Amino acid sequence: MTTVIKNASQLLTLTGKNLGIVENGSVIINDGKISTIIQNSKFKIQNSKTIDAHNCVVMPGFIDCHTHLVFAGTRENEFSMRLEGKTYKQILKSGGGILQTVRATRQASERELFKLAQSRLDQLIKWGTTTVEIKSGYGLDTANELKILRVIKKLQKANQNRITIISTFMAAHAVPPDITKPNYIKKIIKEMIPKVAHAKLAQFCDVFCENFVFNATDSKKILLTAKKFGLIPKLHADEIESSGGAEIAGQVKAISAEHLLYPSDKGLKAMKKNNVIAVLLPGTTMFLKSKQIPPIDKMRKLGLTIALGSDYNPGTCMIYQMPIIIALGCLLYNLSLTEAIRGATINSAKALGLDKNIGTIQKGKDADLIILDVPDFRHIPYQFGKNLVKTVIKKGKVVYSVPAK
Ligand code: NIG
Ligand code: FE
Repeated sequence: MTTVIKNASQLLTLTGKNLGIVENGSVIINDGKISTIIQNSKFKIQNSKTIDAHNCVVMPGFIDCHTHLVFAGTRENEFSMRLEGKTYKQILKSGGGILQTVRATRQASERELFKLAQSRLDQLIKWGTTTVEIKSGYGLDTANELKILRVIKKLQKANQNRITIISTFMAAHAVPPDITKPNYIKKIIKEMIPKVAHAKLAQFCDVFCENFVFNATDSKKILLTAKKFGLIPKLHADEIESSGGAEIAGQVKAISAEHLLYPSDKGLKAMKKNNVIAVLLPGTTMFLKSKQIPPIDKMRKLGLTIALGSDYNPGTCMIYQMPIIIALGCLLYNLSLTEAIRGATINSAKALGLDKNIGTIQKGKDADLIILDVPDFRHIPYQFGKNLVKTVIKKGKVVYSVPAK
């Protein structure tokens, strides 16, 4: 089966170090994979299906390498508390925050969680996301963490031709109220990790590494165990305070360290030395009204690879729209538009270990592509909040197109 996408005003291939723009380009897709990129649109291929881009931008689908998309309940109360001056840490310490979502998620059945998450995924697809990572972490006991991971597995199966879903085990998200921290860590290490690995319910293991949650020593212990069981480490590092998370990311050779508002210089160097991807989440910075931003200049100087994710979750970021995250990367974090678009595509693929298959428009990669209803990519941040996605193509097949006017 051959499909041809023609008449792209700009084809953002993302090959090389920049956006790799091909003007008036075409893409030939064979059996769901990209086979050829052509610098014009005046050709014919027998027995092929044509998708006319009508002089619009064609680019790789967005890759969101960081979400907490399976949850029940909402936290608008916490949003108002923050407007009144309460901090994230105060809210969590008083039994709210993550623990509020844990209560609602524990009460929800697998079916309910599936339905809630499925409708969120449908929205993500409409906004051009073709691959998404989802973390557990609102169960915080063996039964409920496994329940969330099973929901993710069902979502994977139900959506396999629409959106790729990657699963991350994150029981180390907070300490639940009914157990001490040392005992909870023991439970994660002795009981949960082996079960998750045995049932192949996750590919990655993440930890909320903060002095007031799981400190650097706790995080290292959990991640090294996860690694022994074949789960690849990731960390929420130095988000709220400087807690040694970036250093640990280097020491355990994590694939990525995320947030990074307060990493130490030593930590950043350790990340560079061990090829740890820096995943930045500007939506959360905005939601938490943080004045701090990651040390972008230092990251650039060191040559760290910068990826962007949404961090979609009910507490600290209800934004799942990757074009908005790209805009916030530019406006809040001072990223260039090239850095932000690379961050939401090829570099986000790297943070999930998927860069061989997705993230650029290149021969042999999956034809996960989107068509935007604009002639120039600079509209992405400029038309802030407007959904410019016209067509979403997953492995060569159209999975969403804007209904005709
Ligand atoms: O990435 N920091 C920990 N996890 C999420 C927040 C989750 C929550 O507050 O529910 C984050 O910000
Ligand atoms: Fe997060």
